[in-house]
Amino acid sequence: MNNVEKEIVKKTEKYVFDALIDEPSGHDWWHILRVVNSTKKIAGIEQEIQNVNLFICEMAALLHDIADEKLNENAVAGEQKVKDWLKEVDVNEADQAAILTIILNMSYKGGTNKVRLKTIEGKIVQDADRLDALGAVGIARTFTYSGLHERPIHDPRREKVREHLTLEEYRSGNDTAIMHFYEKLLKLKDLMQTKTGAQLALQRHQYMAAFLAEFYDEWEGKC
Ligand code: ADP
Ligand code: NI
Repeated sequence: MNNVEKEIVKKTEKYVFDALIDEPSGHDWWHILRVVNSTKKIAGIEQEIQNVNLFICEMAALLHDIADEKLNENAVAGEQKVKDWLKEVDVNEADQAAILTIILNMSYKGGTNKVRLKTIEGKIVQDADRLDALGAVGIARTFTYSGLHERPIHDPRREKVREHLTLEEYRSGNDTAIMHFYEKLLKLKDLMQTKTGAQLALQRHQYMAAFLAEFYDEWEGKC
């Protein structure tokens, strides 16, 4: 990264920190920082085999939830926020386009998002964001999100998983925290786009699977 890019990253860190420090649903600044750190880690390894633009990676990781439709009035308003910021800090047009393409296409959206990110930068940032949905941190974020939206922890009368969800159904709130594991989290390990991301995801997946096994044992009074 050159000095101008480093300066833009610094300003963007402050902008995102101020915007998301108190975000209560698990999309807060610390989520962003973890995603930036995983992005750097994966990028460092990928760089040994191909050229990776670290500026685009880091900017997309920093800004990826600023545009989130769940955290804005709607998707268009979120997109505009990111566009305005990229202009304000003078990112060149090619980089603006690359960063926006990643941010606008990386969300899981209940599996309804079928766009596959083509650039290595996109694959890295998407994997880094998905890693933060997994493991101990992923479990914590899921219960926080679910509680904030007044959803139950678990309801054994319900199906574990709703298949072939539309985005409206996925976002409808008609689920439990435990259902979210089956509707998204346990699927992620097979959707990782980089080799490093897949390796890290597997470890976190196994931790979640063990958590669920213990959860059901305790629920049923088996331990
Ligand atoms: P996407 O929009 O791509 O599905 P989200 O931003 O909704 O991604 O997901 C980020 C994290 O927020 C999830 O990994 C999970 O921890 C939490 N989350 C999102 N939706 C739910 C839900 N319905 N129930 C519980 N947690 C959720
Ligand atoms: Ni995110």
